[in-house]
Amino acid sequence: MARTLITSALPYINGIKHLGNLVGSQLPADLYARYRRARGDEVLFLCATDEHGTPAEIAAQKAGKPVAEYCAEMHDIQAEIAAGFRLSFDHFGRSSSEQNKILTQHLASKLAESGLIEVIEETQVYSVTDGRFLPDRYIEGTCPNCGYDSARGDQCDNCTKQLDPTDLINPHSTISGATDLETRATKHLYLKQSNMRGALSEWIDSKTDWPVLTTSIAKKWLNDGDGLQDRGITRDLSWGVPVQYEDAPWTGMDGKVFYVWFDAPIEYIACGAEWAAKQGLDDAAWERWWRTDKGADDVRYVQFMGKDNVPFHTLSFPVTMLGSDEPWKMVDYIKSFNYLNYDGGQFSTSRGRGVFMDQALSILPSDYWRWWLLSHAPESSDSEFTWENFQSSVNKDLADVLGNFVSRITKFCRSKFGEEVPMGGDYGDQERALIADLTEKVTDYQTHMDAIDVRKGANALRAIWVAGNEYLQSAAPWSTFKEDPELAAMQVRMGLNLIGLYARLSSPFIPDTSGKLHTALALDALDWPEDVAGCLSSLTPGHTFVVPDNLFAKISDEDREDWQEKFAGTRS
Ligand code: MF3
Ligand code: ZN
Repeated sequence: MARTLITSALPYINGIKHLGNLVGSQLPADLYARYRRARGDEVLFLCATDEHGTPAEIAAQKAGKPVAEYCAEMHDIQAEIAAGFRLSFDHFGRSSSEQNKILTQHLASKLAESGLIEVIEETQVYSVTDGRFLPDRYIEGTCPNCGYDSARGDQCDNCTKQLDPTDLINPHSTISGATDLETRATKHLYLKQSNMRGALSEWIDSKTDWPVLTTSIAKKWLNDGDGLQDRGITRDLSWGVPVQYEDAPWTGMDGKVFYVWFDAPIEYIACGAEWAAKQGLDDAAWERWWRTDKGADDVRYVQFMGKDNVPFHTLSFPVTMLGSDEPWKMVDYIKSFNYLNYDGGQFSTSRGRGVFMDQALSILPSDYWRWWLLSHAPESSDSEFTWENFQSSVNKDLADVLGNFVSRITKFCRSKFGEEVPMGGDYGDQERALIADLTEKVTDYQTHMDAIDVRKGANALRAIWVAGNEYLQSAAPWSTFKEDPELAAMQVRMGLNLIGLYARLSSPFIPDTSGKLHTALALDALDWPEDVAGCLSSLTPGHTFVVPDNLFAKISDEDREDWQEKFAGTRS
């Protein structure tokens, strides 16, 4: 049995994600996980919240809560919304887990053994009142360049000049407002990424089948960017994985934690360990996915992420993996995405512009969103959400094509033959032609899904729905019924079998609708139609069904206008 390991980039803990975030990683990862499972693979699909770093501390502070409490609450909220979108994670973990702490510290020790970690002495701003070193973002003052009075230690938001905290005039701590700041000597760990250039470049070059977007970003950073500079991997924060652990190969690093981008990707692995522990399984259960010496060499590992994440997944994280000199499973394929824009601008978390995941579910069921987002995934370029486009896709593809087909055929059958598959004669020329056409179209669909070409997959699925509609339109059982009820019965039998085919093929995109069709038609299983002809004869005369409720409601112009206004800005 083929085995597929799938991870989605880990969403930051600091707030509910918008639809642009969703379509850039978690949703396409779910599409692929559902598809691989449907094709019979053994799948392990992992995701988690990315909980460390200053953004989490700042968000907790704003919410007036201790950071651990804030993260625990936010994790549960994100998990619930993910379930609302039917994201079928095998485990939705937390980068603040015990497992991640252990593994992060272990890998740091291994990197040190490989000679890839250097302890560097530097001077840094220390706040006497706060009793701690301050990260750059926790220091504000007047910009020496433009005079703006709330410039941050790393950058001035007004004139965008990159700053050093010591450049600021009248600096103060944003934690306490204290001005008794001094520079003191301190130590940090640096990961000597540049030592790994050869190994990394060889590894990237071996990935000849990666999408252009992924490879071009990886090579740009590898060759002419600063991507492989030695990188500080420690920070002066209390929330994170402690650097001064038992048996650590360094001393004097109390009060420091690892940089969030160091521990976050390690959570991909730790999440597997959390998954196993939750079910009371031993380490072998997750190691057979993650260690090539323990069975993971026949796993295919696919990662999903937005383009801004690509450098971390093609350079930094691989340095950790390869540099550890341990047999970790490396990623086989990285599917990356461009950005989704919102109605003539960008989605903005800080300004509340656009539709956020919780809001989306409060106005429409998840399948509507899943269908639109996936069929418009920003693959070859950025794409844009507009309410007009959303309305027209939902109304045409889902309501007119799929919904209408199901409703017409089931209602017609009920009125003429009752709620069971009618007898009729054998399939004729028209049906044989339809089967041949659909066999080809299903192959086409599978080809795109195998290649993780999300939009092409959606188009191919839509073409399959359309072919059924065209068949029904031209067979027209409501007309043939008057002259030849036997013929009409056979056509209806085909129509009901088409619904069964659609329920199976559509499940990766619109799982709830598939489930409804599955129930309405009382299908035994939602197994993949490896043999289209066989699938289209699988519902036999006498099999009972019920007419499902209307599958999709059309979006009215009024709704569209309301929503457009409501989501224009400033989420409260
Ligand atoms: N939280 C990051 C983001 O939202 C992604 C982290 S991916 C991981 O951009 F690999 F580091 F976990
Ligand atoms: Zn400035």
